[in-house]
Order: sequence, then structure tokens, then C-alpha cells
Amino acid sequence: MHIFDRKGELIAQLQLERNKNRTVGLVPTMGALHQGHLSLVKKAVLENDVVVVSVFVNPTQFDQKEDLEKYPRNLDQDLDLLKSVGPNILVFTPNANEIYGEDVVSKSYDFDGLDQVMEGAFRTGHFDGVGTVVELFLTTVAPDRAYFGEKDFQQLQIIKKLVDTRQLPYTIVGCPIEREAHGLAMSSRNERLSQTTREEAGFIYKTLKTAKFKFGTESAKEITDWVSSQFAENSTLELEYFEIAEEDTLTPMTEKTANQKYRAFIAVYADGVRLIDNLRLN
Ligand code: PAJ
Repeated sequence: MHIFDRKGELIAQLQLERNKNRTVGLVPTMGALHQGHLSLVKKAVLENDVVVVSVFVNPTQFDQKEDLEKYPRNLDQDLDLLKSVGPNILVFTPNANEIYGEDVVSKSYDFDGLDQVMEGAFRTGHFDGVGTVVELFLTTVAPDRAYFGEKDFQQLQIIKKLVDTRQLPYTIVGCPIEREAHGLAMSSRNERLSQTTREEAGFIYKTLKTAKFKFGTESAKEITDWVSSQFAENSTLELEYFEIAEEDTLTPMTEKTANQKYRAFIAVYADGVRLIDNLRLN
């Protein structure tokens, strides 16, 4: 395993790999790695000769200073976990200066409305920050394939849109959500929950599964009202939003249309930590 903190050195190594006709996969992360991240890395290792894993806590995608400061960082443990996956992994660990230079600001993107709802509506500037850093990683690494989790489904759709509109020749691969034993979607932020809350937060996935069951017979409004009432009775978890939306456009569902794919999206606060999840409904 090689570790690079400079773009130039990574690019030089990748050129050597390309000269040997090796394919390259990319897995961008913010570190504090868990089995969810590793599922992406394992898939990338199976499908490519060399895999670049970036570990960079991107300041421009945080709308709350406190959230950025409290974001867990544990590079030594991350490196141990990556070593256990396989030998052909290049880890890219730049600092903010290497990525942004003096001016730590995002570019401004038009994501065709995908960034106006849910995470975009509740976290101002978040997706401009994500777009800026992911575009930089993609153009630096020029991977054959780049891997993103459905855990952040809105992010996945936005990256696909970015690659489409900029006509970047990279395949974006979506990967299923990995969950803890109680159903909570794995997340670096889960480390900030108490053990009791972490178990209780399984309620989020349980509610999503019931919403999916109800989707067969009930309207979006009925399901949304039911979800609100469930969280109103829960003293540990505070609902920020629950939304049923079309998968492709992320527009909120009003009436069910034949052949349209729908997904339920949720954001919840627990112990002051913001948790998101989603589930395909049909
Ligand atoms: P981060 O939250 O570290 O996630 C890195 C990748 O792992 C994302 O594609 C995310 O969707 C995926 N992932 C996280 N938890 C997962 C889970 N439980 N199951 C499956 N995949 C999971 O997402 C980011 O970082 C950043 O926004 C980034 C894309 C790196 C840009 O800074």
C-alpha cells in the first residue's frame, strides 16, 4: 500500500500503472472508515487492478463549523483497515492547501434542481462543496470507475449529473447501504452516539421499512404524516425531514406514476448528531 499526500506524486504513480495497462478505481472518502466504506473499496478492488482511496475531510461541504470540528479523524486506523483489504491500494491523504490552495471555497454548480431538495435544502452550499472536491478527485485520478454509496443517494445522483453535464469519461458505480446489527445505516458519525442511542437509532430503518410496506396502499401524504407521528412519540430521535421522491429527479412524489421508481429519504437528529438514510420503495 502506498500513501500520497501530494497530487503530483499520485499522478506520477498512476501514470506508471497506466503504462502497464492497469485499470484504476477511485473511492473518495472522508475517513473514519467503517464496513460501509470498505464494501466500496472491496468492490473496487474486485473490478480494477489498482484502487485509489482518498481520505480528506472536505471543509467546504460542512455548513456547520461544529460538525466539521467534531468530524471523527483516525488515519492510523483507516490505514490498517485498508491494508486488510488488499495490496493494490493507493491512499491519497491531501491537506486542504493541496486541494484548494489559499482560497478554501467551492465552485458553483447547476445540478438541475437535484441539489435544491432534502440535504441541499437543509445544508446550504453542501453539494457545491461535494461537487468541487469530487470533480477534483475525478480529474486528478481519471479513474475507469468511481464508487459511491447509496447511503448518500442524493450525492450519488448529483455526481452522476456532474459527470454527465461535464462529459467526463468515468463510470460512476452506486453501491448498496451497509447496516449495523440493529439496522442503523453505518456512518462515521455513529461513533459520536452513545451505545444506547446507537441501538435505539435502529428505529429509523424500522420506520423506513414500514413506510415501504405502507407504500403499497397509502398515499405519500398519509405515509409522511404517519412517520411524523412515530417520531413525535420518540424522545431520543428528532425528525428533520421525511420525503418520498422520484429516484431520478428527486422531486417529491405527489401522485404515483406507473414505471416510476420511488425512494423514501429521512434525516434525524440523535444525541445532537445528524443521521440520514433512505430506502427504495418499489
Ligand atoms: P463519506 O461520508 O466518508 O463517505 C464516503 C463514501 O462511502 C460515500 O460514497 C458514501 O455514500 C459511502 N458510504 C458511507 N456509509 C456507507 C454505508 N453505510 N453503506 C454504503 N456506503 C456508504 O460521502 C462522503 O464521504 C463525501 O461527501 C465525499 C464523497 C468523500 C466528498 O467529500
